Amino acid sequence: MSREKIKVPDGIASLIPYPPGKPIEELERELGISGSIKLASNENPIGPSKKAIEAVKAKLSGLNRYPDGSNFYLKRKLSERLGVSEDMLFTGNGSNEIIEILMRTFLQPGDSVVMGSPSFAVYPLVTQAAGCEAIEVPLKADLTYDMEKMVAAITGKTKIVFIANPNNPTGTMLGAEEFSAFMEAVPGSVIICMDEAYCEYVTSTDYPDSLSYVKAGRPVVVMRTFSKIYGLAGLRAGYGVGPEYIIDYMNRVRQPFNMNTLAQAAALAALDDDEHIEKSLENNRNGLDYLFGEFSALGFECVPTEANFFLVKVGDGANVYDALLKRGVIVRPMAGYGLGEYIRVTVGLPDENRRLIDTIKELGISN
Ligand SMILES: Cc1ncc(COP(=O)(O)O)c(C=O)c1O
Repeated sequence: MSREKIKVPDGIASLIPYPPGKPIEELERELGISGSIKLASNENPIGPSKKAIEAVKAKLSGLNRYPDGSNFYLKRKLSERLGVSEDMLFTGNGSNEIIEILMRTFLQPGDSVVMGSPSFAVYPLVTQAAGCEAIEVPLKADLTYDMEKMVAAITGKTKIVFIANPNNPTGTMLGAEEFSAFMEAVPGSVIICMDEAYCEYVTSTDYPDSLSYVKAGRPVVVMRTFSKIYGLAGLRAGYGVGPEYIIDYMNRVRQPFNMNTLAQAAALAALDDDEHIEKSLENNRNGLDYLFGEFSALGFECVPTEANFFLVKVGDGANVYDALLKRGVIVRPMAGYGLGEYIRVTVGLPDENRRLIDTIKELGISN
């Protein structure tokens, strides 16, 4: 009864909630299986950095205190590493939160936000919740961004353009030259959000130096996360880099303690754990080599990737996803992204990658 009486903005009323996955233990109980593996959420299969674990342990007994609301030490370290002032840095509860704060800070109902399609599912959701129009520009046939069409989609109402680079769920990368041409064409009144959640995995030498545009004073906000290569998805830690005035506005909107004490300590320690990063990169390179080789041998096409995940064209993606799930191998179905012929696979540990391929062979799935 009260639902009818309470007025809710149209953008919220028409939102379709993001369906949360079940805990693995629950899924296993329902399916009557055990020992399943998850290659579905682009997490780091190596685990968190040991240095980060130690840093978290050292902070546990101080949890009666509020976090450092300025995130002083993490910002100082990031500022040294990235060559930007601390006032150009924003930290948050995962880059998800930072995306949301950017939008809440700058969007007004009626504005539009330009993004690729398919891309990270959060962009259209938050746009709609803000009462704004999400202009989704289809990717090209090779599943890379169509930058000319992205520019053409910008109107006087456009406030933000989102570019995930590498893009999720495709793993594809936008190159430096195309980015530079885009930056020349885009009006100065539009904020360009470069979502670089997977940048640490990129091996291409053609990756755009988006930070140089921030440093040159352009309205570019670069987002990064500790959830992927740093292996801290469960703690929620991310950062954004942008011009001081943009970060200043965003700071007015955020909650005072939006990155918790453990996340701050873990992120700081993980940044310095070169061995963990090197190991993670090596696992990813070897895993991609192995999986691309095996899938090709089975006659499946894999989409070239610069991330820790990739798309495989398996025909009926929903069926393959289901069959693998029943055998305890969890990948990501892609029908919700308009890519029903594909599944998305996150690179796992060598044993996990082998199990995926063995299960596909056992199920007799081939092209
Ligand atoms: C492109 C992209 N951006 C942002 C995120 C969010 O990451 P975080 O865990 O930092 O919120 C993800 C997570 O999957 C992602 O794929």
